Amino acid sequence: MHSNHFMKDVNSSNPEKRSIAVNRMFGSIASSYDSLNTIMTAGRHHTWRRIAVKNLTLKKGAKVLDLCTGSGDFITPLLNRVGDNGKVVAVDYCEELLHICKTKHGTKKNVEIVQADALNLPFEDNTFDAITVGWGLRNLVDLDKGLTEISRVLKTGGTFVSIDTARPDNQIMYSLSKFVLGNLLPLVWRFSGNSSAGKYLFSSTQNFISLSELSDKMYKSGIKTATIEKYMFGNIGIIWGKKG
Ligand SMILES: C[S@@+](CC[C@H](N)C(=O)[O-])C[C@H]1O[C@@H](n2cnc3c(N)ncnc32)[C@H](O)[C@@H]1O
Repeated sequence: MHSNHFMKDVNSSNPEKRSIAVNRMFGSIASSYDSLNTIMTAGRHHTWRRIAVKNLTLKKGAKVLDLCTGSGDFITPLLNRVGDNGKVVAVDYCEELLHICKTKHGTKKNVEIVQADALNLPFEDNTFDAITVGWGLRNLVDLDKGLTEISRVLKTGGTFVSIDTARPDNQIMYSLSKFVLGNLLPLVWRFSGNSSAGKYLFSSTQNFISLSELSDKMYKSGIKTATIEKYMFGNIGIIWGKKG
């Protein structure tokens, strides 16, 4: 991936161009995505996923959407909750990451893997009992549209959870995190041969809205927020909500 072109496209005022650039960027890091995720979170991301899923109101037999599924690491904790009669539909628009997701989950009978744009979901209104998104919302080129789509396909009374990077409330911790991430991310990604991905991931983290702003946007889209929790010294936020 040519770094200058990527940075130009990902900052373009044209949302379509930005979306294509983000898709390509994730495609270019797909083969190292899982290892880098483990390095960047010190292996904690599986724990946060389990916490996120544990606090979703979810019955056996439920039908769940994992949006922006990437390599599909939300699928196992979700399958454990919905059981053999439940179903997990995993959606992403990045072909290369979906390929990895398929190698991990493609043969499971109650998993359906769909390539689609989160901003234009190919599902009827009120389809899912719950929706999960891991580190996906901040990558959407139109967050309001993404939340409207999430709310549309979620059943009334259905639950939603997003895990994403967050801004620590404590100013000292915020400055420290900014320094560490600003230096660590580009370094880790340079080793993986893709420094522009590191730059993008750092800037998308820094520029993402706060959890209270996200909560307001969710509310406007029809998802009332129940709970927010922060982890990793405030750098990771989990937000749960319910449509209704
Ligand atoms: C940081 S990764 C997170 C992947 C996974 N959810 C996880 O927890 O590891 C963000 C994902 O969002 C996907 N994504 C971004 N914009 C999207 C869109 N408009 N439609 C579908 N997927 C999108 C990317 O392809 C990528 O897989």
